[in-house]
Amino acid sequence: MLVSGAGTNLQALLHACTDPAYGARVVAVGADRDGIEALARAERAGVPTFVQRVTGHRTRQEWDAALTASCRQHDPDLVVLAGFMKLAGSAFLDAFGGRCVNTHPALSPSFPGMAGPAEALAYGVKVTGATLFLVDEGVDTGPIVAQTTVPVEDDDDVATLHERIKVAERAMLVATVGRMAREGFTITDRKVRFGT
Ligand code: GAR
Repeated sequence: MLVSGAGTNLQALLHACTDPAYGARVVAVGADRDGIEALARAERAGVPTFVQRVTGHRTRQEWDAALTASCRQHDPDLVVLAGFMKLAGSAFLDAFGGRCVNTHPALSPSFPGMAGPAEALAYGVKVTGATLFLVDEGVDTGPIVAQTTVPVEDDDDVATLHERIKVAERAMLVATVGRMAREGFTITDRKVRFGT
């Protein structure tokens, strides 16, 4: 898993993986920054961690190659981005394209980018949610694996709305990653289906 922040999605997956019937385990957690709660959560769970900072490399491409190499060392079947606040580069996509998912706190294709909850609130939508998608070269544009919805309440601010989204998002992530691991999946003309 790749993370940048609080790691509540990571925590939900770590918890799910304690049940052998879940069918997956987190082999490593990587981040683009130190000192985040997500890394502390991984360490408390005994999961190996690594950090690759963009500023620790001469170019973005070198960072992308280093991140890719760090992920490869753990030989993941699936890479899960949860609150990872960087765009994957071409080396990463060459290695993990088609088997890397990201969770976005909006209903794609609406409100891509870093401010999904704020933009949904500002637009005045009545329903928003979260989207799990396969990472491609765009910003939150890849084939959709799952979506979940929540209402927008009249008195919401960005924090209350994002928190409601995150509760639904964690359940979606756990349910969907489990199915991907247990059942496999196919991607045909952007349509993602479980099973092989
Ligand atoms: C999640 O809501 C995730 O969708 C969002 O950051 C939050 C991370 O929460 N990701 C993005 O906005 C990516 N552009 P967490 O660290 O508690 O799992």
